[in-house]
Amino acid sequence: MELIKKVEELKNEIIAKIKEAFDEPSLRLIQENHLSKKSPLNAMMSHIKELQGEEKASFGQAINNAKKEIAEFFASKEKEISDKKIQEKLEKEKIDITLPSIDYHMGGINPFYQIIDEICDIFTSMGYQVKEGPDVETDYFNFERMNIPSNHPAREMQDSFYITNTTLLRTHTSPAQAHAMDEAKGQPLKIICPGKCFRRDDDDATHSHQFGQVEGLVIDKNINLGNLKATLELFLRKMFGEKREVRFRSSYFPFTEPSVEVDISCMECHGKGCPICKGTGYIEILGAGMVHPHVLEMSGYDPKEYSGFAFGIGIERVAMLRYGIDDIRKIYQGDVRFIEQFKRM
Ligand code: PHE
Repeated sequence: MELIKKVEELKNEIIAKIKEAFDEPSLRLIQENHLSKKSPLNAMMSHIKELQGEEKASFGQAINNAKKEIAEFFASKEKEISDKKIQEKLEKEKIDITLPSIDYHMGGINPFYQIIDEICDIFTSMGYQVKEGPDVETDYFNFERMNIPSNHPAREMQDSFYITNTTLLRTHTSPAQAHAMDEAKGQPLKIICPGKCFRRDDDDATHSHQFGQVEGLVIDKNINLGNLKATLELFLRKMFGEKREVRFRSSYFPFTEPSVEVDISCMECHGKGCPICKGTGYIEILGAGMVHPHVLEMSGYDPKEYSGFAFGIGIERVAMLRYGIDDIRKIYQGDVRFIEQFKRM
């Protein structure tokens, strides 16, 4: 029958077109032109009313078969194109894991900052706040507020780097505490102040014109020397080991009264005497004392009601003792061979 032949031709034509499709848009174009309601194949349906009986049935069936075959072919082409797309994407995104990796250099943390972090960790766990202050200070905050007036011999000891007649590189972190006391406006205080300090000094294996300090300050009602002793013993044993003996000797600082110097038993010889402790069995580690009433007064506290203790510890000295560093200058030189040794501490 002529009509069935026509259907067959149309079908082959469409399938040939589908075969040629190579991407998503070309497939969609075929779908619009040849598989829609208005497609030539569907239009053939209108001939059905011209036919009768057997002929009508086989013509209808021929159209349905053709449609089915086209739909199947279309679906498989669709899958082929989408598979190809995924494959292309995978190829493009392929990572060659056999390529040598980029060698990123891993630095270490300077022991100076490791020690500061460790000290801050110990004191914050005891409820202290960390307060920092500026490196450039006024004479007033660096000296006057620490009970060191301009004619005081302690100024000579800290012979300093002046920027103007009244500003200088701070010689200790104590001025940060004076700022904190001003902010506290007469309220209790529990702080540590880490930072850099500067003094005119001949640089050698154990001295440097720049060094680090952490100073601590506690002010409240009924604070006494026993609190200071217990706090420092706890801190020093956490820092240097539970077995350390801690020794307090009386000393002098203009801003504390009474003042003490604190030693720990030598970790090398455990008190017997060796070159590290210069034969004394003990190593001097920090200065401390009860805040001088005059300092309290200048900072807005009534010394009859409030008392406090303060202490100061040198960072480099702790680092040198802890890690067996023989020359303080190595801490500042930025030599990676030195710093790299502190990677995993
Ligand atoms: N500010 C002192 C110094 O730099 C250290 C110190 C602080 C001593 C607090 C006693 C009490 O020398």
